[in-house]
Amino acid sequence: MIVAADEHGIARAARVLADGGLVVFPTETVYGLGGLAHDPDAVARIYSVKGRPSSNPLIVHVAGVAEARSLVGDGWNPVAEALAGAFWPGPLTLVLPRGPGLADAVTAGGPTMALRVPAHPVARELLRACGKPVVAPSANSSGRLSPTLACHAWEDLGGRVDLILDGGACLAGVESTVVDATTRPARLLRPGPVSPMKLEEVLGRFAVGPGSEAVARSPGLETRHYAPRTKLVAVATAEAAVSMAREARAEGRKMATLAFGATPADMILPGTPAEAERALFAALHRLDSLGLDLIVAVFPPDEPRWWAVRDRLARASAS
Ligand code: TXA
Ligand code: MG
Repeated sequence: MIVAADEHGIARAARVLADGGLVVFPTETVYGLGGLAHDPDAVARIYSVKGRPSSNPLIVHVAGVAEARSLVGDGWNPVAEALAGAFWPGPLTLVLPRGPGLADAVTAGGPTMALRVPAHPVARELLRACGKPVVAPSANSSGRLSPTLACHAWEDLGGRVDLILDGGACLAGVESTVVDATTRPARLLRPGPVSPMKLEEVLGRFAVGPGSEAVARSPGLETRHYAPRTKLVAVATAEAAVSMAREARAEGRKMATLAFGATPADMILPGTPAEAERALFAALHRLDSLGLDLIVAVFPPDEPRWWAVRDRLARASAS
């Protein structure tokens, strides 16, 4: 059932969560599939609804920095303090030592947990009303495109969840930036709306990409992810896309090209990273609904400010 995210909808969603149910709710990044972090049955159901491997840990969402600090306990550290101060509430997830009392499945049995304070007013209101930490992976079947509209989650998960809160389009549009704050230097595990440049302003130096240990404990960062059903190929240049398009059309295959800014294509997304991030998943959902045989995307420039978009395109196209 889809409900408008007004006062009544939010109150209802908070009751569903309190009763151990699952609620899809908007955040500033993408829609999340929420359940109480301290309820092992709710957590188990999230894995089963998504078809998510039990080895892929979840992000715990809390209402504010104070709640985050108290959940982590002794593991809270100066890096977390600096990043939380700069970016919370907002689209940043911190990996920190695991606090006591969480359901084992939340961390996939690992020694760390991922934590974030979302900025979306509906998410904040829901977390406040519910008063407890809420785990929320993106509200899509495992491996599929993340939802940036309530209808995306409805089409994908529909009757398998108890309530969908419709709060309109997500403003950031790609999943939160994930930073491991347990390592020195801190390590960027997933590029997102908090850009590398912004992280640098706070952290100075930081490492990039999953370290070997992080890969072992964060299999969700494995390559293929966020993929449309339609085959997607990502190429470096407009010329490469044009020649693939010519070839596919000569063989009678239906295809569309996707690019950014001034690059010619069938579908052109904005030429600035934040706007392109906002539009990316909705565009891929749209293209995926057209019954095409092939989508060819042209990567935006290989620059840190484009990492989030490049990362999602690379994952969507990995075979
Ligand atoms: O923007 C977001 O983060 C959205 C919204 C709903 O908050 N949520 C989201 O969750 O993207 P999910 O489950 O789709 O992605 C969580 C990512 C996965 O790549 C997972 O492996 C990683 O965070 N993660 C979770 N716990 C971790 C941990 N302890 N160490 C390293 N990575 C972790
Ligand atoms: Mg996800």
